[in-house]
Amino acid sequence: MKDPFGRTIDYLRVSVTDRCNEKCLYCMPEGYKGWAQREDHLTSDEIVNTVAVATEIGFRKIRVTGGEPLIRKDIVEILERIWALPGVQTLGISTNATRLSLLAPALKQAGVRSVNVSLDALSPELYRHITGGDLRVVLDGLEAARRQNFEIIKLNCVLMRGINESEYLPLIRYAAGRQMPLRFIELMPLSRTDVLNEFNFLSVQELMRRLSQSGELTPLVDYRPGNGPARYYEFFSPELPKPARLGFIGALTTPHFCETCNKLRLTADGKLRPCLGRIGEIDLLASLRAGGDPADALHAAIANKPEDHEFLQNYQPNRPMTAIGG
Ligand code: 5AD
Ligand code: SF4
Repeated sequence: MKDPFGRTIDYLRVSVTDRCNEKCLYCMPEGYKGWAQREDHLTSDEIVNTVAVATEIGFRKIRVTGGEPLIRKDIVEILERIWALPGVQTLGISTNATRLSLLAPALKQAGVRSVNVSLDALSPELYRHITGGDLRVVLDGLEAARRQNFEIIKLNCVLMRGINESEYLPLIRYAAGRQMPLRFIELMPLSRTDVLNEFNFLSVQELMRRLSQSGELTPLVDYRPGNGPARYYEFFSPELPKPARLGFIGALTTPHFCETCNKLRLTADGKLRPCLGRIGEIDLLASLRAGGDPADALHAAIANKPEDHEFLQNYQPNRPMTAIGG
């Protein structure tokens, strides 16, 4: 399916809960009270039926997100049922890894191919400051995932000037040693305003400039694991055990960033979100529960995809990232 700007939309990101067992600075506003009511969460049947219809109209790539998707009790069943759908080419999950030690084998068995893990720091104190969580548990979860041989495990690090700048090189070393792609993501204005100000923003260009001073960055033109928005480079410096594969997601500063957008988001409370950086939503839940065909809502959301995001035009999130779905 093509959107009004000729982009093929075949990637659906499905949030299965807006709750999380961590509270990242950039994702969840302090004292956030906007949680969806239980009865407004899509049930597992509603999720699977919606994804089934999505695959019938051309969606091929599915990623399950949250909040933290692995805190949902029926997560393994949901993943198994999605993977069993004939049109699904690839199934991924985005997680904070806190429950991976427990769940990695079940996820592999359920059909998950790709695992994205948020990792913003390797210093336990900084990790706790940013997420409220325990780094040890996360690193154990990552090792458990590595033992399952997923097709790909990617690391995500959000760039925050003055907060985790000391962590970029240790993270690169960690990722290089394990041959995991590491993506650096520009902070997007999606949660509390005190984290998202011009003092904390660090552009991918600035990070790349700094890295070029300590090593060699070579573009990997054809490398696009998961068809995400990152531009990849190989980075090598004498201190690294092996070259690192680094992805840069510059949503705010990269010209034409939105030209290759291929996705729709479905929130845990059943709203289709055509763009992370625009407020418009389509109420799939209301239509489903009134007996409507999810295909209509999906088509409407594709028809409503804007050409680009609005982050730089004074964007005010009507819901934070935890409620939209990473
Ligand atoms: N800006 C940039 N990235 C964010 N993420 C969550 N909130 C933000 C934000 N405000 C990213 C995290 C997480 C993924 C699901 O979304 O890197 O790994
Ligand atoms: Fe939880 Fe992920 Fe949001 Fe952090 S970014 S609070 S781990 S949902």
